[in-house]
Formats: sequence, structure tokens, C-alpha cells
Amino acid sequence: MSKVDVLLGLQWGDEGKGKIVDVLTPQYDVIARFQGGPNAGHTLEFNGIKHVLHIIPSGIFHKQKLNVIGNGVLIEPAIFSDEIAALREKGVEPTDNLYISKKAHLILPSHRLLDAANEQAKGNAKIGSTLKGIGPAYTDKIARTGIRVGDILEFDFREKYQLLKFQHLQIAKMLKYDVDAFRIGDQTLDEYEVRWMDALETLRKFKLINSEYFINRCLKEGKKVLAEGAQGSMLDIDFGSYPFVTSSSTITAGVCSGLGVAPSSIGRVMGITKAYCTRVGAGPFPTELFDATGRRLCELGHEFGATTGRARRCGWIDIPALRYACMLNGVTDLIVTKPDVMDDFDEVKMCVSYNIGGQETDEIPFEYNEVEIHPTLLSFKGWKQNLSASKEYDQLPKDLRVYLSAIEERTGVRIMAVSVSPDRKDVLFR
Ligand code: GDP
Ligand code: IMO
Ligand code: MG
Repeated sequence: MSKVDVLLGLQWGDEGKGKIVDVLTPQYDVIARFQGGPNAGHTLEFNGIKHVLHIIPSGIFHKQKLNVIGNGVLIEPAIFSDEIAALREKGVEPTDNLYISKKAHLILPSHRLLDAANEQAKGNAKIGSTLKGIGPAYTDKIARTGIRVGDILEFDFREKYQLLKFQHLQIAKMLKYDVDAFRIGDQTLDEYEVRWMDALETLRKFKLINSEYFINRCLKEGKKVLAEGAQGSMLDIDFGSYPFVTSSSTITAGVCSGLGVAPSSIGRVMGITKAYCTRVGAGPFPTELFDATGRRLCELGHEFGATTGRARRCGWIDIPALRYACMLNGVTDLIVTKPDVMDDFDEVKMCVSYNIGGQETDEIPFEYNEVEIHPTLLSFKGWKQNLSASKEYDQLPKDLRVYLSAIEERTGVRIMAVSVSPDRKDVLFR
């Protein structure tokens, strides 16, 4: 019996999960997404090709490996269909190596309408949602009113769809939302609905399965399974900076419910962190930089959302948040990405604790959103070297190794790999 290894983000998303999953895929038989949906944007780069995945697991470029979209994931058929088309354009035919859970919930066009209506109703308290319908679709799942992938095979699917859409339109009306002005891209709700319905045909051509049985069978046969997280621990529905979070369990616990595997079946938990911090959307960010250094991180790191194109907020690495994420996830191995972005920096800083009202603490306070948090920063000497020249972990510049050791000491977790460029080939394993 083998175990499910987990790879997930420890910050506010966009840590480089897609790239690392792609690099680790040769070591696994099955790659499975367990939560989130098209709010995710996972970038892969190799052979001069750049590709962004949203719903499809990041193992898809390895033809002989199986990819599974688990029950905890949300599927928006039109986005899914576009993703399939984009893969085919690159010569990848995923019909035979992508399985989808019948229990995964669907995002309807009217979920996207509600997402926009909810955000508008929040006024200045907007979450900064990706507007892919995530919150409303998970709401329906929990309210037991959602529609699942397996339902598209049933005779009464249209009826279920119409009923749920009707309820959504009623809510939008209550929120005083202008439904006629709503657009997805340049399409009205009715136009988009036609596209969405057509896209169900694409979905029907895939193997729709009870993925919990499939995955547990794989484990029994000794196959190696890697669970791929989306978003990050600080966006978790329970432990993130609520309400500025996403609507799913982004932590290791989410693997159990999102794939149907027992806690005792969890193996290694690989947590990814950038060498600095970013956040896209609203919510607390204690180490955020509003100065030239912040803008430099954004520019040099190309910190623009892979899903929405929005500029990401940037700041120094946040050890209290990282320790929290390591604790919640039971991280066994750390992976650090993007130190190369700071190659030219004279100085690199690290937040080691928070100062709140004159008191030092290394705990994330309940009042995370309300209190003023002053990060207590340690300064490190910049390594001032082009990291792309390093081909082995041991060749990394001494000043970077000092910085990495400090991360290890303060989180209590060993770093297993460092990534030094967007490309698949530039991951230095220890
Ligand atoms: P994900 O959502 O965690 O998969 O991450 P994203 O794809 O949204 O964002 C990560 C961005 O950083 C992408 O543009 C990647 O190509 C890029 N990237 C990943 N690892 C590295 C790295 O080590 N160095 C640099 N410079 N870029 C990286
Ligand atoms: P990946 O998997 C970064 C953020 C949004 C918003 C909040 C809620 O690429 O790391 P939602 O659309 O879920 O209702 O948005 O969460 N968010 C992400 N930020 N990376 C992501 O995914 C994200 N998915 C959602 O910006 O602040
Ligand atoms: Mg991303």
C-alpha cells in the first residue's frame, strides 16, 4: 500500500506549484487535484513553451501519467473546454490520461453572475475574487443545492440546471444587480450559457469516474500518487485571513476530503514558498512593500496573475505565516522558488515576528484584518550573483545559503529543493 504525497502552496498562492508538480511528475503514476477550480493559474515552462493550467492537473504534459480531477474540485465546463483546446493546440491529447470525478461540482454561468453580484454588494470590502464563480458554487455544494459532473449524464439534468439558475437570478435581483449588464468576456449571460452547454459535450467525452475508488485502488497496487494543491494555506477557508480567503480547504486536510483518502494514507507533504511573498486580491499582508523595492519584486518577478492578469502585491518573506502553514499542513519538505528574482538586491529581509501594539508575537492573531501589524525584520546580505549559473544545490552562493538556512531554522523544516527560473530544468534538488 503506498501513500499520497502532497504538494501545496504555503503562502497566498502562486508559489510555483504548477512548475514543481511538472518537475516531480516523472516520479509519480497519478497526479490529482483535490480542491479549487478555475481560480487557479498554474504556469509551466519548458522547451521555450509557456502554458497556464486552471482546472487540469499539472502532470498533463507527461503522456504516460494519469491525471485526476478529484471530487473536491470545481469544474467550469466552458473554461475546461478551452483548456483542452489549448492543450490540443500544443499537440497534447488528454482524452486517455485525464479522469474526472463524477462528484466534482459544476460552476454554472449563473454562479459567475452571483460572484460578480456578491463582490459588487461588498462595496469597499471586496475580496478581490477571480470572479470564476468559486464562492457561489462551493456555497451550493455545502447548501446541498449544487450540481455535480455525474449529473450531466442524467435525463433530468436540464431541469436541475434551470431550477438552480432560477434561484441564482432571484438572489441577483435581491442584491440589486444589473443582470442585463453582466458579461463574461464580451458575452451576455444567455450567450455564455450556449457556450457552456456546448462545452458539456467536451466534458462527456472524458472518463467520468468515482475517483475515490480509483485512487484507493492505485494506492493498493503500490502506485505513486501526488496531490496537487491550488491557492495557498493563507487563503484556506478556515485558517486564512477570513473573509479574504477562497472557499475551499487548501491544506493537507483538504486532500482527504477532496480525493477520498484516509489521513493515514498521507505520505510526504511538500510545501512551496517563494523566497519573498506575494498576494493578489484584498486582505492583510503584514510584510507588503509599498516602495521601490516592492515594485522591483513585482517587475523582476513578473508578478502578474496567471488567471486575471492583476498585479500581485509584493513583500518580504513572512516567517510567522510560513510557520503557521507548516504546522497546519504537517510539511515534511520545503521547496523555495524564485530567489533569482532578488539576484541584484544588496539586502534581503525576512520578517521573523510581528509587533502588534508594542508586543512581539509569532502567532497569527485572530484580529489579523483589524490590527496594525509591524513586521520585525532581519536583514541578510544579498548574494549578488546570477543564480541561473548554479546547477547544483551545493553551488548556490554562500549568502543565499545563509538565507535558506535561516528559513529552515525558523520553520523547523528541511529545504528539499530550490527553483531558480521559470523553466522546468532549473530546479536544484538537494
Ligand atoms: P502557481 O499558481 O503556484 O502554479 O504559480 P503561478 O504559475 O501562478 O506563478 C508562479 C510564476 O512564477 C509563474 O510565472 C512561473 O513561471 C514563475 N516561476 C516559477 N518558479 C520560478 C522560479 O524559480 N524563478 C522565477 N523567476 N520564476 C518562477
Ligand atoms: P493558484 O492556484 C493566488 C485569491 C483571489 C482572491 C481570493 C478569493 O494559482 O495559486 P476566489 O476566486 O477563490 O473567490 O478568490 O483568493 N486567489 C488566488 N490568489 N493564486 C490563486 O490560485 C488564487 N485563487 C484565488 O485573488 O483574493
Ligand atoms: Mg497561480
